[in-house]
Amino acid sequence: MPRTVFAALGTYVPDRVVTNEDLTKVMDTSDAWIQERTGIRERRWVREGTENSDLALEASRRALAKAGWEPKDVEAIVYASLSSDHMFPGDGCALNAKLGIPGVPALDVRNQCSGFLYGLAVADAWIRTGMYRRVLLVGSEIHSTGLDVSTRGRDVAVIFGDGAGAALLEATEEPGRGVLSCHLHADGRFVKDLSTDAPGSKYHPRVQPRMLEDGSIYPHMEGQKVFKHAIVRMPEVIREALAKNGLEAKDLKLLVPHQANLRISQMVQRALGLRDDQVFNNIQKYGNTTAASIPLALEEAIEARGVQRGDLVGLAAFGAGFTWASALVRW
Ligand code: UT7
Repeated sequence: MPRTVFAALGTYVPDRVVTNEDLTKVMDTSDAWIQERTGIRERRWVREGTENSDLALEASRRALAKAGWEPKDVEAIVYASLSSDHMFPGDGCALNAKLGIPGVPALDVRNQCSGFLYGLAVADAWIRTGMYRRVLLVGSEIHSTGLDVSTRGRDVAVIFGDGAGAALLEATEEPGRGVLSCHLHADGRFVKDLSTDAPGSKYHPRVQPRMLEDGSIYPHMEGQKVFKHAIVRMPEVIREALAKNGLEAKDLKLLVPHQANLRISQMVQRALGLRDDQVFNNIQKYGNTTAASIPLALEEAIEARGVQRGDLVGLAAFGAGFTWASALVRW
């Protein structure tokens, strides 16, 4: 049975840098609070008119150039995002059109911060069963246009950033390489603890003037509750992956956790007894980019940490739903 390897990664962030200091001009917050509670120094926000799939397209082009693939080499697209341009269709089809590959299937994944890993699990299953040999997996988000950038929304608004990451996944028969396993979980009892209520199909019409006033068009997060679950579920799901493969935390060359909050990553690291050089974070520069955060950090980490063929790489995420997931890859 073939295994799935990462043929190349590509990333793209908008050029507009928004610092913590910039946010203090529109809400009651401070650089010190944001850095101390989240580790974030700055994030990227798009300029008006940018589409979610524009970010994905640039990330995909960069990955394609690195791998030496043409768009026509892509046999299927898996597109993870919570911030698609429209309620429907999802942006996978938009990316298909922008890449100029009509006919190539496009699956949209809505699993928020775990979206990239849910997408990886699907792509890996397709590749293992021989359905496709080359899959483009993208995580792409535009949060900035959906945030309450006032003091009312400050707990959420300071965290999120825009960006995209693309991975070209390919079948290999080479022994000792590839995705070892993916582990997915969800617990819908916490649906309302991190969610955006409107527009929603239970409302008629789906978006109403009062929603602009009462803030239900903006994300709502029970921050402390999310935090407490994240620091339990992420180590747990990484241990699950290690146990499944007869491996231990010390075997990890690199762990790339979803970039939700630097304190969460540090607590996950401690819970697993990992050294600093085993864990990579770049939330300081990009904030939390949900489905894009793992590929955005992974691309940088592979280079920065000198990951070589055969090294063990762990990925883990936790987010809205709640959903959480992990994957282990022999690079
Ligand atoms: O990626 C998906 C999953 N998301 C996460 O994993 C996020 C998980 N949660 C978190 O990262 C943290 O809960 C936050 C960063 C969102 C908040 O940090 P916290 O340490 O849990 O703060 P808090 O919500 O308990 O608020 C503490 C205080 C409050 O003031 P009082 O009630 O003590 O007077 C807040 O009003 O900090 C205040 N506050 C702020 N102050 C300045 C909340 N947001 C801000 C802000 N600037 N941006």
